[in-house]
Amino acid sequence: MNWHSRYLQQAAWTHDLRTYVFQQAGLANARRVLEVGCGTGAILRELDIPSAVTCTGARRKCHGLDLEPASLIECRLHAPAVSLTCGDAHRLPFPHKSFDIAYCHFLLLWVSDPLQVVREMARVSHTVLALAEPDYSQRVDEPSALAPLGKWQMDALRRQGANPSFGARLAEIFFQAGVKIIETGPIQGEAVMRSAEDWENEWAVIQADLGGSVPDGEVQKMKFMDEAARRDGKRTLHVPTFFAWGKT
Ligand SMILES: C[S@@+](CC[C@H](N)C(=O)[O-])C[C@H]1O[C@@H](n2cnc3c(N)ncnc32)[C@H](O)[C@@H]1O
Repeated sequence: MNWHSRYLQQAAWTHDLRTYVFQQAGLANARRVLEVGCGTGAILRELDIPSAVTCTGARRKCHGLDLEPASLIECRLHAPAVSLTCGDAHRLPFPHKSFDIAYCHFLLLWVSDPLQVVREMARVSHTVLALAEPDYSQRVDEPSALAPLGKWQMDALRRQGANPSFGARLAEIFFQAGVKIIETGPIQGEAVMRSAEDWENEWAVIQADLGGSVPDGEVQKMKFMDEAARRDGKRTLHVPTFFAWGKT
């Protein structure tokens, strides 16, 4: 599984929302920006422009933090000017209010205590952004014969330690963490399989997730039905995905 390709695919789904929220949250003026759970740098690479300066002419400095050293090594390749830290989002190793913006993208569903993570993001920054948190429990598959895929994927995410329905709790967690929410809601138009490559990537994830827990013949049957439905223009796949941002 090529995780960077997967993260780029997810980043493409949320591109329009991210552009909007970054603009509203004042990225153009932000001098210090942190991505918590930055992975391989699919988002940071967009901000890592060596010449990036704020509206006032100051240079912008970007930081990334992740638990996984291997992801950080890859992130270094994709976003060479970013400062990287190996650490745990539950205990951010940064002083109070040391960032203008702290953001995350597909992180909170993976952490054991999302409230603690948002509290930490609020402690170290003036503005907190959670750009994409899915709720797989509300996933819609059409034709309905493909519905088992959603249940299998939820089970697989739980086995990997994720909370697949976290997205629906995002606003509540921001509220509990004391972040004054400015905007929150579902992202419109995400998870569009625009190309054959997108579709292959999606299936690579499904097959990696389900290997060993669902008989291969069952998975292949779903893949065949999915391909046929797409060809006939009858396929719908929708995973409600939420964002929130606010001030601390
Ligand atoms: C689904 S990936 C998303 C990566 C990146 N934000 C993106 O959207 O491309 C989730 C990332 O969160 C990291 N992660 C999970 N739990 C973490 C924790 N407690 N502290 C820091 N990073 C964590 C994982 O290592 C992984 O790189």
